[in-house]
Amino acid sequence: MRASDIPGDFDHVLYTEEQVASRIREVAAQIDADYAGREILMVGVLNGAVMTMADLCRAMTSHMSMDWMAVSSYGAGTKSSGVVRILKDLTKDIDGRDILIVEDIIDTGLTLSYLVQNLRSRNPNSIEIMAMFRKPEVVTCPLDVKYVGFDIPNEFVVGYGLDYADKYRNLTDVATLAPHVYKS
Ligand code: XMP
Ligand code: MG
Repeated sequence: MRASDIPGDFDHVLYTEEQVASRIREVAAQIDADYAGREILMVGVLNGAVMTMADLCRAMTSHMSMDWMAVSSYGAGTKSSGVVRILKDLTKDIDGRDILIVEDIIDTGLTLSYLVQNLRSRNPNSIEIMAMFRKPEVVTCPLDVKYVGFDIPNEFVVGYGLDYADKYRNLTDVATLAPHVYKS
């Protein structure tokens, strides 16, 4: 589904499907170059990172395997609760592995700071982060993000895996919501 299929719900489109796909290919090439000859364990953060993971790993030529975590930091709305809980943990041991965390969006950086700290205690060889979107707020958090799809303004965005109250994840482009959607 494209934003133009339900025009009343969105304010404006930030990135089209084509722009997202093109940026994914660039980041994939960068990752392949950095990890040449190594096998990556990509750790996707559910549910938001599913689209990024699916497209990114298929654009890569590196050997990789995949695992998933689910954490909660946000409720149904658009404000951070400040609380991070592990709802679903990894299924594999990461001792000695090269971990690439795949995340949909970084806002305050709170979620990823917690995640990195948690995974580091399991003794991997390395941990890097790929975030499809990054908001300016993250400057308040000391977080080393190696791969970023797009730096975006401080607006609430949906699509390409990102949701509002669990909706709009299936939007192929990335858009801001019309004000009436928040209010209804
Ligand atoms: P922090 O603040 O911990 O938040 O970096 C990261 C998580 O917050 C959610 N988030 C968003 N979700 N549109 C969304 O659909 C947004 O604009 C947005 N900003 C933050 C998201 O779940 C992310 O993992
Ligand atoms: Mg998320």
